This record gives sequence, structure tokens and C-alpha cells, in this order.
Amino acid sequence: MEAKDTKFKRFTITSALPYANGPIHIGHLAGVYVPADIYARYLRMKGRDVLFIGGSDEHGVPITIKARKEGKTPQEIVDRYHEMIRDSFERFGISFDIYSRTSAKIHHETASEFFTTLYNKGVFVEKNNKQYYDAEAGQFLADRYITGTCPHCDFEKAYGDQCERCGTSLSPLDLINPHSALSGNKPELRETKHWYLPLDTAEDWLREWILEGHKDDWKVNVYGQVKSWIDQGLQPRAVTRDLDWGVQVPLPDAEGKVLYVWFDAPIGYISAAREWSEKTGKDWQPYWKSQDSKLVHFIGKDNIVFHCVIFPFMLQQEGSYILPDNVPANEFLNLENDKISTSRNWAVWLHEYLDELPGKEDVLRYVLTANAPETKDNDFTWRDFQARNNNELLAVFGNFVNRSLVLTHKYFDGKIPALENLNDNDEAVLAQMQAFPDKISHSIELYRFREALAELMNLARLGNRYLTENEPWKLFKSDPERVKTILAIALEITAHLAVLAEPFLPFTAEKLRNMMQIGRFNWEDAASQQLLQAGHQLGETALLFEKVEDSQIEQQVQKLLATKTANAAEEPKAVKPQKAAIQFDDFTKMDLRVGEILEAEVVPKTKKLMKLLVDTGIDKRTVVSGIAEYYQPENIIGQQVVMLVNLESRKIRGIESQGMIMMAENAEGKLCFVSPSEAFQNGAEVK
Ligand code: 2FM
Ligand code: ZN
Repeated sequence: MEAKDTKFKRFTITSALPYANGPIHIGHLAGVYVPADIYARYLRMKGRDVLFIGGSDEHGVPITIKARKEGKTPQEIVDRYHEMIRDSFERFGISFDIYSRTSAKIHHETASEFFTTLYNKGVFVEKNNKQYYDAEAGQFLADRYITGTCPHCDFEKAYGDQCERCGTSLSPLDLINPHSALSGNKPELRETKHWYLPLDTAEDWLREWILEGHKDDWKVNVYGQVKSWIDQGLQPRAVTRDLDWGVQVPLPDAEGKVLYVWFDAPIGYISAAREWSEKTGKDWQPYWKSQDSKLVHFIGKDNIVFHCVIFPFMLQQEGSYILPDNVPANEFLNLENDKISTSRNWAVWLHEYLDELPGKEDVLRYVLTANAPETKDNDFTWRDFQARNNNELLAVFGNFVNRSLVLTHKYFDGKIPALENLNDNDEAVLAQMQAFPDKISHSIELYRFREALAELMNLARLGNRYLTENEPWKLFKSDPERVKTILAIALEITAHLAVLAEPFLPFTAEKLRNMMQIGRFNWEDAASQQLLQAGHQLGETALLFEKVEDSQIEQQVQKLLATKTANAAEEPKAVKPQKAAIQFDDFTKMDLRVGEILEAEVVPKTKKLMKLLVDTGIDKRTVVSGIAEYYQPENIIGQQVVMLVNLESRKIRGIESQGMIMMAENAEGKLCFVSPSEAFQNGAEVK
């Protein structure tokens, strides 16, 4: 991939509009908002003209389902979450130029106009076909209003639009054994009319635009997914639904129909620009319609088809808009080795993080960038969070900055010494420092934010190494002039860190600017000039980062464990279906007795098998049983069990096993004894 940003005059940066039916979690942040924010902040520092767009996606069936469940209106639901999301983004420093929402009037107008333009151009195909209808609820069952068995993986709770187990996108008629999510009833089929986007006609254009045009500059994961969609053959997609929540279909014969949420949501990016325009008095159109604007969509991998195929096709058919120059989609972030899930509450929620770990916004930004799922799914763990804070931010970045500032206060009353009398090594270090802005730029412009952040840390490492090698604290008495030079260099590196950290760690950069009493520099300043003046008075020093204690991590881990326990308690356990009926005689053939374990030992070279000596009341005999993973031999001596005593004996690992201990087995395959509820005579029959 090659950076080619210089040909653009302005940048339109969009970040996926989160559904306003739940809070923001670290998966959203790592996948979309942190990288988008780094990119926007960086470009602004380069003096580029940027419009960074965010907003809430407020339509779609999950929202109406939630509203129904809570006895609220959909508007009440989206109002609650829109505010919560907007507020937590702001506290976290996501620097949107506009944070809009799709229930806004301007969005309904924009989406309607867009649909009308395509309609008037004859783009849509109108089709009558049969769709599931819930007669009791009096409603067609779009998308998640219908559930059933996935035809690909047999998952029994697949939705009408997607199977969440295997990820396949579905249409309601694909489901086996469909049920209405409203009444639980089996739905009937009724005829209804919808408008389809003829994606099947887009193949040649998509091949040329993406597969040939963006082979080298789109990320491999994105390109690969798009190619596979196109290779599988694209089908026409309905862009309307029979629902009462969404943007009304602006046609006279479309009563009770709204635009499909995935048709209106990306148009929300355009509506947001229009809202920004109304608020600022600036013209939104160049950002969307001028060929010298660069459009970049930041999204997660589940949104790739919508942003790389469907929305671009809509834009192309409309005719007056630019197409995305890049869609640097990320893979997923897992949490403690498990998929992040809103419904299972398996997440680190941004608003809770901000409340529980105040002042640590940049630590989370750092961890999510250093471990960003840029090329593959990654895992967030609290231990890694702690290690990255303590061993990287604090020990490398914080330590270097602190040493430079504290020593300057100590030796020179906080006045910056002149950068002079440089030896060869000093010159070399300054030259290395000067190369960092370009290195970091290069990585950011290729959407390699992890790599860019690693370079920033390398600059702090360069500073640390320089101080350690030059040991100004040892020289001050004998050679204070030399110490002046050393600290002037260290401070210059510190100032560069303050500038270059801004896209990644904006709160830290601001703190550092305050400590150094310097203003905001732009990126080119850091690349081309000395930032500090001799004699400049530094401000008060404070610690940039605090240690994250074991107890803080333990609290977070405990919180997750509590979620796991609650989920496990709620999960319906799979129970095997009943076996075929047997005659009473079949049952009476089995001789079941109460027995007592007298001796127990694990069978050598096995993990599961235990050799038991059991008093059956009839005799004392040896039995081999697969319980060694669940019981310790010393704990089961004296345990009464139920034993099938007339099972033909057989050799297991060379040991003659004369019977079988009865065990209960749960859905996870765990075994436990079935015992009499009070001490009972050995040899008593079990009937
Ligand atoms: O996946 C999601 O959370 C969607 N709400 C993203 C929409 S992005 C854009 F199209 F608005
Ligand atoms: Zn499936």
C-alpha cells in the first residue's frame, strides 16, 4: 500500500453509527472509534481539512424489540442510549466534528430524498412476494422478528437476517422451523410489495472499482471479504420493510413500509454532514461530492459488505457522490478469551470504565491501539492492560518525561537550557528524533495504528536510553555545562513526544503541554524544527501515569467472573431426549445395589480412571470407574454409591472390573455419584 494523501484537499472520515440500543464497549472502541479518532486528530495536526462524522443508528428491529420488552417506545429507547453513547464518547475524547442521530428530522429528509432519487432513476426493482406474517400480532416479521433454525449450522436461534453462530447472512425464508419473535407462533406467508436494489447488476462495476482499483491499497482482510462476496454472486436486496419504526418509504403506495435500516444508516453519514453544515454555516457538499475529498469509512468487519458493496453501489447509482477511498475495517476484539457480547453482558462498557477508572482514558486508548485487531481477532485481558500501563506507559514514557522535567527543575530551576555544544552522539540522537514524525505519519497514512504507536514509544525509548547513557545526575557536580546540553536534548525529545502523542494519547499530550507550558504545535513543526526556546520556564511537574494496582485489576476480573456465573445460571442446559420405551422386565434384569467404596486409587498412566474396591453387601469387589477427573481418591473412601452388580465383568487397562458405579452426567460431561440420601445398608437393592 502506498500513501497518496497529498492529492486530496479534504477528508471525510466516518465511523460506524452504533445502534442506540446499548452502551459502547471496548470492542467498538478498538475496532472503530479509537483508530478513526487517531486518524482525524493526526490529519488536523497536519493542517488538513477534516470532517469527522459520528452518530447513533436508531432504526432497525433490535431497537423495536427492546422497546417492546421494556414497555417503552422505540424513541424512548434511542433517546436514552443516544445520550449515553454521545456522552461517553465525549468523555473519552473521541473528537467528532458532529455526533448526529438517524431519528433526526434532517436524516429522515436526507434518506427520503436519496431513496426518491434512486426511485426516479428507475434503479429499484419492485417485487411482490410472500413474507412471514404473525396474524396474532398483525405484523409482517422482518429480520429479527423471526427466528428459527439456521440451514447452515443447525443453530436453533438464528434470526431472519443472520445466524449469529456461523455468521451467515440469511433471509427469513431460509430458516427451518420459523417462529415469530413477537408471539412465538408459527407464522403464515402473506404477499407484500418491496423495493430491491439490483446488486446482481453491480458485479462488473464492483470488480473494476474494488478488485482492480483497490487491490493494493485496501487491507487484505477487507479486500478478501469483498472478493468472496462478489465471487459468490450478488443477489438483489430488499431495501424496504413492513415495519412502523424507521424512515417512511416516500411513495404513495407504501403505507406501513419503512426503509431497511441498512439502507438508511449509511445515509446517516451524509445527514450528519448536513447537520454539521447547519450548525457551523460551512458547506457540507464538497466533503461528499468533490473528487478532491477523501472518504474513509472506519468500521468493524461485520459491516464490510454494507460499506464496500451496498452503500458504494447506492452512491454510484445516485451519481453525485464520491466513493470511499478506503475502508480500513478491523477484525474483532475478544474479552478474556471470549467473544464480546451485549446480550451476555460480556464486555467492558465504556461508561463504566470511565466511572471506575477515572483519569485513565489514555491508558485504555493505548491498550486498545497497541493490541488493536488490525489483521486478526485479538484478546483484551485485564492483566495485559495492567502490564501495558505499568511496563510501557509508566516505565517507558512516563519515566522518561519525569526524569527530564524533574532534573531540569532540580538543576536549572525549570528553565530550559540552550541546545548547544553538541557532540556527535547528541547530533545523531537529534537526527533520530527528527525522523519520528515521518515514520509515524507513514504508518498512520497506511492505517497501521499499532505500528504508529509502537514508533511513538520508540521515541520515548530513545530518550530514556539517552539519559541512561549520559547520566546527567552523575555529571552535574563536575560538568554542569554538559548537563545543560543533555537536558536540552531530553526536553526537546519530551516536547516531540507531547506533539506526536496527541493523536493517540490526547489527555496525556495536554497534560504534558501544561507541564512544559508550551502551546499546540502541528505535525510539521515536530518534523522540521526545534520546538523549545532556551530560557523558557517549565511549569509544575506531575506524574503522567499512575501504577495500576493488582487490587484494581482483581476488581475488574471479579466483575467479569460474576457475569460469567450469572450467565451460567441463566443458560438453559441441554438435556438429552428420552430413550425409546423399555418393558418392566428389561428394567428388573438390572441388579442395582447400594455399595460402599473401601479403597480408591488412580489407575497408573491414566487421567480419568480410578480403581475402586467396593463393599457390595454381597462381596468386596474391584470396579474401574472414569471418575478421576472429578474426585480425589482420599475424599471418597466411605462414600456410598449405587452400583450395577450384575454387569458382565470386563478388563479395563488390565484390571478386571466387576460391575459399574452409577453416575449422573451433566451437559458439560461432568460426573457425580448417585448416592442414597441417608446412610444405608450395603447390598440394599435399588428398584
Ligand atoms: O453494526 C452496527 O452497529 C451498525 N449500527 C453500523 C451502522 S454503520 C452505518 F452504516 F451507519
Ligand atoms: Zn448458522
